[in-house]
Amino acid sequence: MLAMNYRGPKRVRVSEKPEPALKHPEDAIVRVTRSCICGSDLHLYNGNVPDTRVGMTFGHEFTGVVVEVGSDVTKVKVGDHVLVPFNVACGRCVFCKQGMFGNCHESNPEATAVGAIFGYSHTAGGHDGGQAEYARVPYANVGPTVIPEGMDPDDAVLLTDVVPTGYQAAEMGGIQPGDTVVVFGAGPVGIMAARCSWLFGAGRVIIIDKEDYRLEFAKNYAHCEAYNFEKDMDDPVLFIKKITDWLGADVCIDAVGAEAAGNALQTITGRKLLLQAGSATALHWAINAVKKGGVVSIVGVYGPTDNLVPMGNAMNKGLTIRGNQTSVKRLLPRLIEHVQNGVLNPKALITHRIPLEDIADGYRLFSAKLDNCIKPLLIMPNSGR
Ligand SMILES: NC(=O)c1ccc[n+]([C@@H]2O[C@H](COP(=O)([O-])OP(=O)(O)OC[C@H]3O[C@@H](n4cnc5c(N)ncnc54)[C@H](O)[C@@H]3O)[C@@H](O)[C@H]2O)c1
Ligand SMILES: [Zn+2]
Ligand SMILES: [Zn+2]
Repeated sequence: MLAMNYRGPKRVRVSEKPEPALKHPEDAIVRVTRSCICGSDLHLYNGNVPDTRVGMTFGHEFTGVVVEVGSDVTKVKVGDHVLVPFNVACGRCVFCKQGMFGNCHESNPEATAVGAIFGYSHTAGGHDGGQAEYARVPYANVGPTVIPEGMDPDDAVLLTDVVPTGYQAAEMGGIQPGDTVVVFGAGPVGIMAARCSWLFGAGRVIIIDKEDYRLEFAKNYAHCEAYNFEKDMDDPVLFIKKITDWLGADVCIDAVGAEAAGNALQTITGRKLLLQAGSATALHWAINAVKKGGVVSIVGVYGPTDNLVPMGNAMNKGLTIRGNQTSVKRLLPRLIEHVQNGVLNPKALITHRIPLEDIADGYRLFSAKLDNCIKPLLIMPNSGR
């Protein structure tokens, strides 16, 4: 089969790989029908995630048709068209039982922090992902969810990560009616977080980025205020204080993570020298721009090593800081309803449809924010296009 193949930082290509086979009675094999490139893949692409091995296939946002199931699989059958949450989760450990599917204790026994994630380095379990014609899906009774009849597969594929992550970002913010929410990052995740903040009763939503085209999109899609931190302000923290009666925002969401721009020291130590787990610039701004007693919600991804963050300010301001990998499966029932009822329209985020064969161009385009790219979707050679 054709599959994305990681060759080293900033070097990806497509090559022939053996089709995956069942390894366990609870496995399923799916023929991939839709697959996305995510901002999280950029951390791998840029070489910022430890133990990202040459030869790995990325891809944690995919849908597919089940073509084979192990003898213990009862929840999906051959022929089902499923969406596959990005978490690989066992469904029965102490954390899965609490709905913390992103923190499964079984699927990634080598790690103490994160559960397994498809196509996300050996730090996250070493499972090949869905940027390929076929993928092996472990614990097939838990994650894969049949796409409801009538749902557009473009909407379905965004339910594997972007929609639940945006939603959980807002949820973790503990938004109270009328709250001012500031979202750092107007990528697909930040845009969805801004959109979902209204569902929790926000009274004002502000999004911050440096890409005008994304800010423009966010303004229309998420009905929020949008500001460019490179053009509209000198100091983002001061700017946010100024527009919030000098109190700060009630909730700040970090939807940027380790690739953040905006602070030379963070960029050099975090992205160039890898002395910390990426640049923590947006997190810095979030902690400093939220009001005393406020909440910082972190969905932007950071690696396992340490980061330079203003802990003294977080402590002395009495902040609540929450973060996690998203528990996709926990949120799916509610979010499927929101999509079916037209409350959320995820497919509007998809700006590019790129053949799997051109994946290197896809990564370059998405990474460099070229051609007004917001969310690229990979088209499979077997899809008939
Ligand atoms: N927690 C989870 O489960 C989960 C799931 C999916 C994605 N993520 C993470 O969420 C983050 C966003 O994902 P995405 O797909 O939207 O990525 P993306 O790369 O498309 O978007 C990130 C945006 O942040 C902007 N940005 C850079 N520095 C900034 C700063 N200092 N302040 C404000 N904006 C800044 C960039 O211009 C870009 O538009 C990534 O870190 C990704 O790994 C987490
Ligand atoms: Zn993702
Ligand atoms: Zn588990």
